[in-house]
Amino acid sequence: MSKPKTYWIRTFGCQMNEHDSERLAGLLEVQGYRKVATPDLADVAVFNTCAIRENADNRLYGNLGHIKAVKDVNPDLKVVVGGCLAEKDRETIVRKAPWVDVVMGTRNIEALPDLLQRVEEQGIPVVEFSETLNVFPSALPARRDNRFHAWVAIQYGCNNACTFCIVPSVRGHEDSRRIGDILGEVKQLCADGVIEVTLLGQNVNSYGRDIYSKPKFADLLLSLDGIEGLERVRYTSPHPKDFREPVARAMAESKVVCEHLHLPLQSGSSRVLKSMKRSYSREKFLDKVAMAREIIPGLALTTDIIVGFPGETEEDFEQTMSLVEQVRFDGAFTFQYSPRPGTVAATMQDQVPKEVVTERFNRLADLQHRISLECNQQHVGEIVEVLVEGPSKKDPDKLTGRTRTNKLVHFTDRELVGAGASPARVNPGVAGGLGRLNAAIGVSSAVAAAPAIVGQGEFRTLEIISASPSHMEGRLLE
Ligand code: SAH
Ligand code: SF4
Ligand code: F3S
Repeated sequence: MSKPKTYWIRTFGCQMNEHDSERLAGLLEVQGYRKVATPDLADVAVFNTCAIRENADNRLYGNLGHIKAVKDVNPDLKVVVGGCLAEKDRETIVRKAPWVDVVMGTRNIEALPDLLQRVEEQGIPVVEFSETLNVFPSALPARRDNRFHAWVAIQYGCNNACTFCIVPSVRGHEDSRRIGDILGEVKQLCADGVIEVTLLGQNVNSYGRDIYSKPKFADLLLSLDGIEGLERVRYTSPHPKDFREPVARAMAESKVVCEHLHLPLQSGSSRVLKSMKRSYSREKFLDKVAMAREIIPGLALTTDIIVGFPGETEEDFEQTMSLVEQVRFDGAFTFQYSPRPGTVAATMQDQVPKEVVTERFNRLADLQHRISLECNQQHVGEIVEVLVEGPSKKDPDKLTGRTRTNKLVHFTDRELVGAGASPARVNPGVAGGLGRLNAAIGVSSAVAAAPAIVGQGEFRTLEIISASPSHMEGRLLE
């Protein structure tokens, strides 16, 4: 019997790329490939790239340099570059790194097996990009790394034009997926043991506008209620300009949609927001927060903030600081502005000097740190239910779970007592059958599940006993 072929995959960037990588892996598994932990053991090495950060290019070419050394030892290794940076650099990649075999776009996920076949037959690199989305990637077989959680893309691309952002140029315009197909996929996932899904899109509030002529996100959220086995629904990201009452009401009404809203602010200055082309003002953002908090009891709120956008004055930055102080976000992803070639903001005259950006960034991080701590401290003494994710990354003698409000809680579990320092346990019965490509009805079948991990996917009831800015500690209640 011949040895099964193997693949290794490295994913950069956001959840959308995680989602796509699960499909790339799923397609390879359907072809009989098996996943390996390092590229030197692989027949195919895939880099699923991101273009949002500065230096993403340098890092990619650095990684491709390393993979060349691996390929020098194993000339049969096929190297694949996909994702957003592949869209941006296209033919440049094979020019700079001629040992790359496949460069593929974000709208060609389903083509990977064919592209590998073409390389095999032709013996020269293949570069493939598509302007249209022929197969919605969620409809492809997936190899999920987590047995109880699944990413479900409901929309691809973005129709906005935020002046700092590269995403529309690498992901194309918005394409929504039909509600029936999404529900079909979620039902199938739940039948396979998934209990939590995260709906993905660049601007989920406009979901459906392109195919139903009006946004249908609230309807979609409500229609997920009652699917057998489904316990929790999360989503990311809504755009503040399109976040309206029907969605907040759907969140409050739904039993499965979690009380967590990630509402990316970007800046607290209306002047900067205008220059970013975000289509909302500081006041509008504050109104949306007040509306969401009034409608959804116990809501946790997180955000994204960019520091040092071109033209940002000290006064503008103070506006961001005061908004953060006023809203008291549970958490924030903070970014130093990075000019992305090809975006409008990259050509703006008044770029903020690096040292000013860093100083402001540190001030904001300190403020958010204090607020996150204070928010978490308020929960000490409360009884919460968490969904266990697995061993704590910091302390393998503890488990980590997540509250509905998306807060991490570490705790000592009865299952770990006596399990020693390596709680990860492999369940031999999880190999899973081969999924079949069922694009027509939009059902994605898992081709293989990751090994079982102690407690993963189970609920626990805890008392919160202490808090830090990033997480809380809990005590298990029997
Ligand atoms: N579609 C999402 C954002 C996706 S990008 C939304 O609109 O909310 C994720 C985050 O990266 C953004 O919210 C922004 O805060 C950050 N980001 C994007 N481009 C950036 C840039 N050029 N410099 C710094 N941060 C950036
Ligand atoms: Fe980028 Fe704006 Fe679209 Fe988000 S909404 S992906 S920040 S252009
Ligand atoms: Fe995501 Fe990065 Fe692309 S953030 S959409 S992988 S540019």
